Amino acid sequence: MHIFYVDKIDSTQDYAKSIVELHSSIVPFWIQSGIQLNGKGQRGRKWYGDSGNLYITGCFARKDILPGQLSIAIGVLLANIIQNKLLEIGDKSKVGLKWPNDILINGKKCGGILIEISDYIYIGIGINLTNHPEINPNEGMQATHLSAINLEWLKMAIVNSIDEQFFKLLDFETIQKQWFEFAKDCIDTWHIREPFNGQIIGIDSKGQLLIQDNQGNITARHQTFV
Ligand code: BTN
Repeated sequence: MHIFYVDKIDSTQDYAKSIVELHSSIVPFWIQSGIQLNGKGQRGRKWYGDSGNLYITGCFARKDILPGQLSIAIGVLLANIIQNKLLEIGDKSKVGLKWPNDILINGKKCGGILIEISDYIYIGIGINLTNHPEINPNEGMQATHLSAINLEWLKMAIVNSIDEQFFKLLDFETIQKQWFEFAKDCIDTWHIREPFNGQIIGIDSKGQLLIQDNQGNITARHQTFV
């Protein structure tokens, strides 16, 4: 698998798309940037891009996978990689997931995932490792960074885990359960944009968030993809 590196780029996500336009035969590949000048977040937001953090996009040709499942599956994969490493080094920090796939450390956001699908799948991953943006808690959730984990180690752990086998063996029932294990302790930090009545009870087989109201009716919130 090719891993390309650039010191500085607007967004690895957009750069990956321009590489595909010129040389589609090199798919699958990863592109990493040391700094992002105009990083993209979910729902048209910007993603902080200072040096020292992980900014990486993987491009794959798979089309036989539901975007909602992929988005959740990548979140669970990252949460497992990070939580296992923290346990191994004796760090008691707790990894959490906020729907659909924000990576939290002790309830604060330290990473995000941007899935874009056209003729190819683009998996954009940003993890704050040495620094993080100041976010007004009134506007968004508080941010943090994960200084206990080395950037090169994390990059290789991710790249080595997301391969053909990952797509082939994806068992969404197991992933659904694991997602809820990572998410259940963060329920008080969850904030969906619009107010809702009821209780979050999990995700369905498409990765939609399930909310049960006081009468027992269950509604599903879907993710948005570009
Ligand atoms: C989010 O809003 O939570 C998703 C953030 C995704 C950021 C990553 S960093 C690498 C890739 N390139 C981008 O421009 N965005 C994604």
